[in-house]
Amino acid sequence: MYENLTVVEHPLVKHKLTRIRDKSVDPKEFRETLDEITMLLAYEVTRTFPLEECTVETPLMPYKGAKLPDVEPAVIVILRAALGFLPAMLKLLPNAKTGHIGMSRDHETLRPIHYYCKLPTALEKRETILLDPMLATGYSAVAAVDFLKQAGAKNIRFMCLIAAPEGVEVMRQHHPDVMIYTGALDEKLNEKGYIIPGIGDAGDRIFGTY
Ligand code: URA
Repeated sequence: MYENLTVVEHPLVKHKLTRIRDKSVDPKEFRETLDEITMLLAYEVTRTFPLEECTVETPLMPYKGAKLPDVEPAVIVILRAALGFLPAMLKLLPNAKTGHIGMSRDHETLRPIHYYCKLPTALEKRETILLDPMLATGYSAVAAVDFLKQAGAKNIRFMCLIAAPEGVEVMRQHHPDVMIYTGALDEKLNEKGYIIPGIGDAGDRIFGTY
């Protein structure tokens, strides 16, 4: 439907994501389930990672295999909700360098307000995964990709839990080279910029601030 979008169509993703949409799920279960979904999404996001040939000695003979390049990938979280993705991402990619971009939303204009940015060095050499659970208006994601590109990043993938068509389109217009990976493509945004049916405020669900 969108050439910049991969919806990870997997029964486990669907099952677990449906579970955490339920408003009765508490933050503990929400975080634990998000951890599991993160692994399943990351499996798809990293599918196109480059590999290098290498040889190891099994107890019986040399084996020609493959390894990730020595240059570590970069995992970038948009504060604060993407912190919920981080433990599982770092379990899968333990050598990844982590960057943080602080953005909050102006509730009137729905535009992002940027307040913090600390990125890994040498982004131009790294596979970069940008994380934010909700791709809603797309404004924060686009601003974050702007930062990453200004810092030299070239191979950027965006991973979210739920995307709205509006956000996918905004990202496509500004950064058509950035592939979006999501657990679900929901219907639309409401007048407050929340994804419908969505999960509500992802940060609140993760950290219990509701
Ligand atoms: N951010 C959220 O946490 N939820 C939404 O539905 C949209 C943006």
